Amino acid sequence: MIADLSPSDRSKYACALHASKLVKSGMKVGLGTGSTAYWLVYHLAERVRNEDLKFFGVPTSNNTRDQAQAEGIKVISMDDAGRLDLTIDGADEFDQSMNLIKGGGGAHLQEKIVAFGSDQMVVIADESKKVKKLGKFPLPVEVLKFGSASTKIKIEELIVAQNYQDFNIQKRMKDGKSFITDEGNLIFDLELNEIKDPRRLCRDLNIIPGVVENGLFIDVCSAVILGYSDGTTDISWKKDVVL
Ligand code: A5P
Repeated sequence: MIADLSPSDRSKYACALHASKLVKSGMKVGLGTGSTAYWLVYHLAERVRNEDLKFFGVPTSNNTRDQAQAEGIKVISMDDAGRLDLTIDGADEFDQSMNLIKGGGGAHLQEKIVAFGSDQMVVIADESKKVKKLGKFPLPVEVLKFGSASTKIKIEELIVAQNYQDFNIQKRMKDGKSFITDEGNLIFDLELNEIKDPRRLCRDLNIIPGVVENGLFIDVCSAVILGYSDGTTDISWKKDVVL
C-alpha cells in the first residue's frame, strides 16, 4: 500500500500510523482535520476492524466526522465527551517550542477547542512543516460575517501596531465565493511572513470583537511525530510530558 503513495503521502501515512498506536481502548480521542489526519482516521479504523480497538472519536470538522463514521469509528460530540485523553492532528507549521499554525483547512476553531480540551495533543507532520519562526504560512483568523469589514480594519490596525510592515490580509475564497467554515464564519488569512511574538499576537487578535479564533496554537502541543518518505518516523515529546 505505502509503496503506491507519493513521497509526501508516504510521510503522512507513516506519522499517522505511529500516532494511531498511541490510542488505547476506552480513550476519548480528538481526531484532527486535513490530509495528514485523513491517514490517522484510516489507520485507527484499521485497528478498530483488525485489533478490536474500542475508542471514542471526537472529530474536528464535518469532513473528519464523515470519514470516521464511514470507516466504522464510534463518533461522539465534544459535549458528550467532556475532557479528552488525547488529540492527534496535523499542522501547517510548528516551531522549536511546539507552537503551531493551523487552519489551512479552515477547521482551526473546532481543532483548538478539541486540543485544549485534551490531556495531550500530538501533532503529526512531515518535515516541511518544521520552521524556525512561525509565519511563512498565512495565519488563518476566523471572523463572524457580521461586521467583517470593520473587523478586518481592526485586525489591520493591530498588525500595524505590532510593527509588521509588509503584510497582506486576504479573505479566503473557494470556487469564487467566500469560504465558509463549519461554524458558518469567514476566514481572513494574514500574510505576515514571520510572526515576531506569536503569544502576543494570538492574545491580541482574539480580543478584537468579531474575531472568533485565530490559528496560533500556543503551549498546547505535547509531542510531534515526524514522518519521512522512507516510512520511518521520529517522535519528540515536550519536556515533562508523559503519555
Ligand atoms: C485544518 O484546518 C488544519 O489545521 C490542518 O490540520 C492543517 O492545515 C494540516 O493539514 P495537512 O495535514 O493537510 O497539511
